[in-house]
Amino acid sequence: MFGGFRFVYSIAAMTSNENWVTVAQLSELGEGEIKGVEVGDKQIALYNVGGEIHATDNICTHAFALLSDGWLDGDVIECPLHAGRFEVRTGKALGPPVEQDIKVFPVRVSGSDIQVNIG
Ligand code: FES
Repeated sequence: MFGGFRFVYSIAAMTSNENWVTVAQLSELGEGEIKGVEVGDKQIALYNVGGEIHATDNICTHAFALLSDGWLDGDVIECPLHAGRFEVRTGKALGPPVEQDIKVFPVRVSGSDIQVNIG
């Protein structure tokens, strides 16, 4: 059923700190959907972009808002508070009012588990 999902690895994660944590099940995140999860003191947003799972910090770099409450348009998340936009694959801030990129986390899929390397 989820054969279309692809693994997304970070080369850095494969060679340095690895701390993979299961944060959700694939069945909880349909295509085009966003899900906020908490891992320890981290708030992480998960995105399903065409069957690829991506993860970023969930808290906007502009002010306090949860990106998981925003809108996913392709691979761009729009913040619900002031409409700042970030690329979810790279974390790149796409212009005012956001100036600082958002942290991205390596993601992998193991069976039905979505796992994030929180480092
Ligand atoms: S809090 Fe996200 S754009 Fe302002």
